[in-house]
Amino acid sequence: MDRHVYLDHSATTPVAPEVLEAMTPYHRDLFGNASSLHEHGRKARQALDHSRQSIAEHLGTKPEEIVFTSGATEANNLAIIGTAFASSQHPHIVTTSIEHHAVLHAVRWLEEQGYPVSYVHPDASGKIDPEAVREVLRDDTALVSVMAGNNEVGTTQPLAELGTLCREHGVLLHSDAVQAFGKMELPTEHIDLLSASAHKLHGPKGVGLLYVRKGVKLAPLFHGGGHENGRRSGTENIPGIVGFAKATEIAFSERHEHRERWTSFRDRMIESLEGIRGTRLNGHRTDCLPHIVNFSFEAVEGESLVLKLDEAGIAVSTGSACSSPELEPSHVLVAIGVPPAMVHGSLRISMGRETVTDEIDALLDALPRAVEALRAYSPFRVGDTDVH
Ligand SMILES: Cc1ncc(COP(=O)(O)O)c(C=O)c1O
Repeated sequence: MDRHVYLDHSATTPVAPEVLEAMTPYHRDLFGNASSLHEHGRKARQALDHSRQSIAEHLGTKPEEIVFTSGATEANNLAIIGTAFASSQHPHIVTTSIEHHAVLHAVRWLEEQGYPVSYVHPDASGKIDPEAVREVLRDDTALVSVMAGNNEVGTTQPLAELGTLCREHGVLLHSDAVQAFGKMELPTEHIDLLSASAHKLHGPKGVGLLYVRKGVKLAPLFHGGGHENGRRSGTENIPGIVGFAKATEIAFSERHEHRERWTSFRDRMIESLEGIRGTRLNGHRTDCLPHIVNFSFEAVEGESLVLKLDEAGIAVSTGSACSSPELEPSHVLVAIGVPPAMVHGSLRISMGRETVTDEIDALLDALPRAVEALRAYSPFRVGDTDVH
C-alpha cells in the first residue's frame, strides 16, 4: 500500500475535515473577542456559549462547570495545584504511579513545596484497586487523581467505585480522561474534576477543558481578565473551542461504530502478534480503551522497531510520545512489572477514526519481519529471560 499508515492516535490525531470546516469562519470573518460588546464580540460569545453547552451535554454536566484551557496539561495542573492551593492547609494528595507526566510532575512539584503525597501502585494489568486507595486516605486528604484510561497500555480504571469511595471520605476525585473522552462512558456523576484535550479526538491542538463540579473550590493558576468565571484568565481560543465542540459531537455520535471496529482490530492484533516468540501483551486484556494496544518484544529495542516500521511507512510509538525521546524506561511499564529485558522493547499501536483494515494488514505484515530483523542483530537471545 502506498499511503502512509498512521497508528499513533494516542499521541495526536489529524483534524477531522468537518472540524476544520467548523473552525475556519472563526479564524476569518468571525474573529471577535468574546468579551467585546460590539457585534464581532457578540458572535464570538455566542459561539463560545454554544460550544460550552454542547460539550457539557455530551459529558452530562452543566455548561458553567466547563472551564476551557490550553490543553490537558494545563487542565491537570489546574485541577491538582488549584485544589491544593484552595485549601488553607497543606493537604494530602493521592495519585497513582501510572499517571501521565502532566499529573505526576504537577503532583511532584507540590510534594517539593511540602505537600504530602501518596502514590498507589497498579496490579500487573495496570488496574488500580479502590481498596489500595482507601488504605492511603487520611483525615487531611483533599484530592485523589486517577486517570480514566492509560495512554500507554490502555487499561481503564473503576472510576464509579473510586468516586463513591472518595465521596464517603469527603475527598475530591480528579480524573485525567484525555484518552477516554469520546471513546467510553465516563461516570461524571461520580467525578469532581475531569480533564480532556481536543487533539486526541480529531480536534485542534492547544485546546482542552477541565470539568469542575459546582461548589468545588479551585484557586486559579492564571490571573488576568477573569475569563471562564475567574477560573482561567486569557482571551478564549474561539476557533479552537468551536473545533473542540465539533470534534466532541462527532466522537460521541460515532463512538459505538468505532469501538466495535477498533475492538475487532485489537483482538486481531493480539491473536496474531502473540504468535511471535518472546512477545507479551501489556495492559488489561478486556478492561481497556478500545483504540490502544501495547506489546513488548524480547531482545528488541522499541526505538529501533519504531524506526524500522517508519521506513516501511508505518507510524507507531514506544510508550507515550512525551517520554520516547528520553531513553528512560516507561514508568508505566515499570509500574506494572514488565521484566527489565522487555521494558525497552515496547510498542504502542493506537487507532483513530480513519483507521481501516488495510492498515492493520500492513502492520501485521511488517511487524513480525521487523522484529525478526532486529533480533538478528541483538546480543540477546529470545528465551534468555523469564518472561510472561
Ligand atoms: C493521558 C494524558 N494526559 C495528558 C496529556 C497531555 O495533553 P495535552 O497535549 O492536551 O497537554 C496527554 C497527551 O499525551 C495524555 O495522553
